[in-house]
Amino acid sequence: MPVYIVLLGPPGAGKGTQAGIVSEKLGLAHVSSGDIFRENIKNQTELGKLAEGFINRGALVPDDVTIDMIRERLSRADCLRGALLDGYPRTPPQAEALDHMLANFGGKVDVVPYIQVDEAELVNRLSGRWTCRAEGHIYHMVFNPPKQAGICDVDGSELYQREDDSRETVQHRIHVYFEQTAPLSEYYRKQGQLVEVNGAQNIEKVTADLLAALPESAKNGR
Ligand code: AP5
Ligand code: MG
Repeated sequence: MPVYIVLLGPPGAGKGTQAGIVSEKLGLAHVSSGDIFRENIKNQTELGKLAEGFINRGALVPDDVTIDMIRERLSRADCLRGALLDGYPRTPPQAEALDHMLANFGGKVDVVPYIQVDEAELVNRLSGRWTCRAEGHIYHMVFNPPKQAGICDVDGSELYQREDDSRETVQHRIHVYFEQTAPLSEYYRKQGQLVEVNGAQNIEKVTADLLAALPESAKNGR
């Protein structure tokens, strides 16, 4: 049976950071809706042109295009054994669509780690974030600096600050998160899939708690 893990948490909680580490440890594909959108914007595809305005002002991209994009991504060969989802779902219709598509793939949402961090810390993290141009590797100028300023340790590409990490847009993204995405924690709690993880610790400790919170089936169900 494929294994599907959904990482939930506000902007800046550390979803992308943890997904990168944990997907490698578990051998699962890392599926980040934000990364897919940014790749499409970089390549100026039709999807990228549609998504760009929403993303730059910190609003959600409409459900229909987002759901179609994720369905296509999860149907690729590297997701046959499952995936670690980062940034999807973000609305109740996206969560329901995910349940349907995973049933078609012979699986289900196995576990939903909810990474909790308070709002002031989210703003600190996002205002100091630097992202790698080539592959989206994530750094922070204080909490997780690259060896050489402005250069990605992994692939040597340039680091940049995301346009939606400006202070004003960050506030709006956090607002959108509490309005539209936070209710999903109840959806998953009711289904017994939610596990809370304290995200206000250093990166290594969050990883350790996250791994400890995964059921054995999610760690070796492949
Ligand atoms: P997306 O890219 O998903 O952004 P997000 O959810 O706002 O989350 P972030 O990527 O900002 O934060 P993160 O939790 O990944 O934190 P990170 O690990 O980078 O989405 C962007 C946009 O795309 C959305 O606003 C929307 O427009 C659109 N979109 C995406 N998905 C969509 C969907 N499903 N539906 C509709 N629209 C969608 O860490 C943040 C910083 O903190 C980094 O600098 C990192 O180094 C640092 N850090 C991480 N962990 C720690 C730690 N433990 N201690 C100290 N620092 C840490
Ligand atoms: Mg992210």
